[in-house]
Amino acid sequence: MKFNHKNFLKLLDFTSDEIQYLLDLSAKLKAEKKKGKKHQHLKGKNIALIFEKASTRTRCSFEVAAYDLGMNTTYIETFTSHFGKKESVADSARVLGRMYDGIEYRGYGQEIVEDIAKYAGVPVWNGLTNEFHPTQILADLLTIKEHFGYLKGIKFVYMGDAGYNMGNSLMIGCAKMGMHFVACAPKDYYPNQELINECQKIAKETGATLEFTDDPMKATKDADVIYTDVWVSMGESDSVWDYRIKDLTPYRVTKELMENAKPNAKFMHCLPAFHDMKTTVGKATFEKFGIECMEVTDEVFEGDQSIVFDQAENRLHTIKAVMLATLKSK
Ligand code: CP
Ligand code: NVA
Repeated sequence: MKFNHKNFLKLLDFTSDEIQYLLDLSAKLKAEKKKGKKHQHLKGKNIALIFEKASTRTRCSFEVAAYDLGMNTTYIETFTSHFGKKESVADSARVLGRMYDGIEYRGYGQEIVEDIAKYAGVPVWNGLTNEFHPTQILADLLTIKEHFGYLKGIKFVYMGDAGYNMGNSLMIGCAKMGMHFVACAPKDYYPNQELINECQKIAKETGATLEFTDDPMKATKDADVIYTDVWVSMGESDSVWDYRIKDLTPYRVTKELMENAKPNAKFMHCLPAFHDMKTTVGKATFEKFGIECMEVTDEVFEGDQSIVFDQAENRLHTIKAVMLATLKSK
């Protein structure tokens, strides 16, 4: 499989076989790490990690994966660099491309990461934009494969804000891998029609099915996976909290919904999750709106069916596979 110097900007750019290759490579690298087998295949290379938004998992995964592969990293915050403020994205991309072998970007519009890729001349990886979060989806697919043994035909239900980065990217990932994707939300929260149409075309080739409903019991009936994400994403205005809570509370993942799914169903979340009041945002939301959790109850999050920390770990192995596949010379 030839990935040399290919960017990783969105899953739409990759074939089902290429995604499968990345998942297989991730599993191999994970097994090697567990056995203590070193894989410093990119020794001496340097990568830049640009973060315009906060991160725990993505940043740490890129850093640890880079170290495991023998690479060095520079963490760049827009706050302490000129990126996009005193220097255009195109100029910064050309500068970084002269110094680094690869660049990760987390931030706002997808056009920014596409622009970096256009100008940098080295592989660029999307660490989350408003529209897409492709490295997360690789980790999610690997996790599902580990728990169920297969991807094709899995009934995957996404509850809540399905029109943002996670809903969009999961729909693409499910379409590419022949899964049964269900978005369950009020109609205003579905992915945009253009993206749905594109995924419907992919689904015809892979045998996937896409379904959109506002009925949680219908959606979760016999589900294999129930997935959710926060109701207000990074970078969105504080003014949206009020109506998001009203609109999306009926789509919270509860014990009742988990019991409506298959007996061996799993709960998934990209994290961070608002499942209790142990965060400043969780406390503030309780004080303002009187709710003790948002998109998922603490009972489900902490329950036996929850595989959220397997997902989190797999961020490392899948990001490592993406960097290795796009940077290795043969
Ligand atoms: N899931 C995810 O991308 O987490 P971080 O925001 O911590 O990177
Ligand atoms: N939708 C969330 C995903 C975080 C990993 C956000 O963009 O904040």
